Amino acid sequence: MVNRNVVIIGGGVIGLGIGWQLAKAGLSVSLFERDRVGRAASRAAAGMLAPFSEAHTEEAELLALGCESLALYPKWVEALQVDSEISIGYRVDGTLIVGIEQDDTDQLQHLYKAQQLLGLDVQWLTGRKARDIEPSLSPRVSCAIHCETDYQVDNRLMVKALKHAYQTCGGKLYEKCSVKSIEIEDEVATGIHTESEYRDADIIILAAGCWSTQIAGIPDNIRPPVRPVKGQMLALQMEDGIELNTVIRTIRARYPTSVYLVPRVDGRLIVGATSEEMGFDTRLTVGGMFELLRGAWEAVPGLYELPIVETWTGLRPGSRDSAPILGTTPIEHLIYATGHYRNGILLTPITAYAITELILTGETPSTIKPFKVDRFLN
Ligand code: FAD
Ligand code: GLY
Repeated sequence: MVNRNVVIIGGGVIGLGIGWQLAKAGLSVSLFERDRVGRAASRAAAGMLAPFSEAHTEEAELLALGCESLALYPKWVEALQVDSEISIGYRVDGTLIVGIEQDDTDQLQHLYKAQQLLGLDVQWLTGRKARDIEPSLSPRVSCAIHCETDYQVDNRLMVKALKHAYQTCGGKLYEKCSVKSIEIEDEVATGIHTESEYRDADIIILAAGCWSTQIAGIPDNIRPPVRPVKGQMLALQMEDGIELNTVIRTIRARYPTSVYLVPRVDGRLIVGATSEEMGFDTRLTVGGMFELLRGAWEAVPGLYELPIVETWTGLRPGSRDSAPILGTTPIEHLIYATGHYRNGILLTPITAYAITELILTGETPSTIKPFKVDRFLN
């Protein structure tokens, strides 16, 4: 691809990450965000970089993509810090997946076997060993899987840093500017319509998260099959002897919601998340908050006295097969970078680098080849 005037639709981590890399490479980039950047899923996320703990045997290609992106994180964090002068709370304290009752142990063993079949470097721990790592864990925790290389980043700081880096590198940002439609002539994308104007573009990147299906102009048969999957979350403030460092995930076979606890450098403890097929509904519910608090308290009883400092919901962009939709489309000059579902923070570096390489060289990097929209077209 020799074209150079790029328009990006959507200012979450995916749109901003790609925009930063393209602007850094010297391209003319304009990013359109209908709200303020980074207010949607990218703000709502927990920031876990967890290819191992979220591994499913049937998703080997997605696991490989996640591992590759995780390996890019040190370079990504360093470059972002240089361009933005913002530190993004990257922590390498690992993750413990814990079980309490016998049913949980059975499920945990099933996961452990699957992880071993995939060749992942994880360790089985007794409850006591798990408490050696995190003394605040409940005495009822009977076993755990230690995923030492599943890390975390503060996604809100990452959004802030990406916005800064993007603009520092010369990217143009249009906030409160919704893209209504993409202009397509003879199967070539040529520009976008906002509420107030038409903009020519040599390349258009669709990175509008779970709203990616809503932009007019794209033929129905190639619309990215992305839907919103609601997640309710809350944050506690750690104090009085509750000082977690490791990400804790629970497996609770008998309850509808397994939870995770993600300790931030600033002392906040993020507790998430529900996973609900509720369309674009973003209401907090009693049931959602109850399940999160119960799950968190069972794993770490000492948090009973901690103050709740925030509650929120977010919409994951879930694709039909739970994997992202990346790369060229049957419409020339229209590129998709959407459908990152539960792993968009983890997958930001690989997405940004691979889409940039695609635009600079015209070649789809092999890592993202399995993720083109073409897989849904038959
Ligand atoms: P978004 O952040 O949703 O951004 C899309 C943007 O497009 C929005 O800002 C929106 O306003 C804009 N937009 C939409 N339509 C238009 C339009 N017509 N014109 C202009 N702009 C438009 N991932 C992980 O890796 N680790 C986690 O721990 C994790 N936890 C999560 C917890 C929860 C509760 C949720 C909801 C998600 C979580 N995720 C996690 C997933 C991750 O947040 C997403 O996959 C990722 O943020 C997707 O980024 P995005 O840029 O594609 O979408
Ligand atoms: N990856 C965590 C979540 O989506 O809730």
